[in-house]
Amino acid sequence: MGLMIGQRAEACGLYTPERIRLSRVRAGRRDIVDTALPGSQILTDNAAAVRDARLVVLAVKPKSFDSVADEIRGHLREDVLVVSVVTGVNLERLGHRLGAKNVVRTSTNIGIESGVATTYWMAGPDLSPEGRERAIEIVRSWGDELECNDEALLDIAIVGVGCGPALVIEFIQALTRAMVTQGMPHDLAERGILSLLRGTLALRTAAADRALSQYQEEVITPGGITAEALLAMEEGKFRATVINAFRRAHEKVSRLAPPTG
Ligand SMILES: NC(=O)c1ccc[n+]([C@@H]2O[C@H](COP(=O)([O-])OP(=O)(O)OC[C@H]3O[C@@H](n4cnc5c(N)ncnc54)[C@H](OP(=O)(O)O)[C@@H]3O)[C@@H](O)[C@H]2O)c1
Repeated sequence: MGLMIGQRAEACGLYTPERIRLSRVRAGRRDIVDTALPGSQILTDNAAAVRDARLVVLAVKPKSFDSVADEIRGHLREDVLVVSVVTGVNLERLGHRLGAKNVVRTSTNIGIESGVATTYWMAGPDLSPEGRERAIEIVRSWGDELECNDEALLDIAIVGVGCGPALVIEFIQALTRAMVTQGMPHDLAERGILSLLRGTLALRTAAADRALSQYQEEVITPGGITAEALLAMEEGKFRATVINAFRRAHEKVSRLAPPTG
């Protein structure tokens, strides 16, 4: 995620590559990073990476958060804006461990790479108006953004949008396999299903005030073939399976990071 965020900042003209520092980059990945974001600074010292920076983006695994926080605390500017994509680390912990006032927590996804991410975000209680403006600029550069005022929503959102691409792909693959099972060639099946997804989204986008269920009603002829397909999905507990999968992932979020301390 860190590299994607750097690339996106450069692509959107927010920062020139020379102003972007990436830390910590393993020796084996240096060439990849160099090619992806030529001219950026590749560092191994986290404290050096944040020194004098007005913006710090934290994109480490939850288990690494405390050690990274210990390394950079005391090297941050007083007015630094910290934007975190770290799953499960709450705003209190962010501010407390980093000794920073301007903190923003996000739940986002890999769509950042192409500027099509969905980002739920929340400002820390002491975020300055200027920090807020800059935070909005950053999250908008990633794609769509939705501000939250309840941190619990970010833990739900990380499953929805963070895991979301994998869940949606699972459904696309199931539909594609269904067509293949009935005899459609693989390539035609996948192209058709992807086109169907784009078309369904476009319908909804063109008439945002219409509920999705209204479109469903138009397609479900009473006693017809769509109704038959939906009945089979009900019998297979499709929605219950999705809801249960989501709930289990959500429960796991709370076990990722230790409580504030
Ligand atoms: N990937 C997603 O779709 C997604 C979506 C939403 C949120 N997130 C969250 O975003 C965060 C990053 O995820 P990711 O997928 O980008 O993980 P990742 O690919 O494993 O990247 C984490 C990076 O942190 C580096 N790192 C580890 N320890 C460090 C340390 N002490 N100091 C500095 N850097 C350190 C790692 O370097 P090494 O490789 O050298 O260890 C690696 O480059 C996680 O909290 C994740 O939950 C991810």
